[in-house]
Amino acid sequence: MAFADMTDDIAEVLFDEDAIARRVEELAATITADYAGSEVLLLATLKGAVIFLADLMRALQLPVCVDFVGATSYGGSTESSGSVRLDLDSCGDMSGRHVLIVEDIVDTGRTLTKLVDAIQGQAPASVRTCCLLDKPSRRVTDFRPDYVGFEIADRFVVGYGLDFSQRYRNLPYIAVLKPRAYES
Ligand code: IMP
Repeated sequence: MAFADMTDDIAEVLFDEDAIARRVEELAATITADYAGSEVLLLATLKGAVIFLADLMRALQLPVCVDFVGATSYGGSTESSGSVRLDLDSCGDMSGRHVLIVEDIVDTGRTLTKLVDAIQGQAPASVRTCCLLDKPSRRVTDFRPDYVGFEIADRFVVGYGLDFSQRYRNLPYIAVLKPRAYES
């Protein structure tokens, strides 16, 4: 697949690089104020949240540590499989830490419901969630993120870390795919 084929698959750009950068700065300012005086453990979900994490952490004016958790629920489709797999084994000890989960997008809410429960079991000082995108109309759990970049309608989006079937993560904007990209 050539890069031009990738960009040809884009139906609409929802948030361009400037809009994302501005919103990440705002989120970081709020988080910096909320956690003033504390060290934060940023726990990012793999792989979708890596670009968001990289921008967010550089805008935070706080001491932070970083860890990653593998989380899978989609597997080559635009619909969640409904069963979430978490790989917390390689993560360090979270007891007594202020854990801030950094996630690319909340959809059904299953991933973060399960992840927050798993972390609560490790006696952290606190657990909150920061999600770049939120699709509240898709929720099947009562999960509500603490920090949200943008709320969006029920559309499948790619770019800025988000993929379809492992592609499109490197697009610098967040965009809706043409149906032909996932129907073929
Ligand atoms: P949830 O468990 O249904 O909330 O799903 C969360 C995960 O689904 C996210 O971390 C993404 O990996 C994936 N996901 C949900 N919606 C989208 C989307 O529109 N584009 C790409 N990935 C998505």
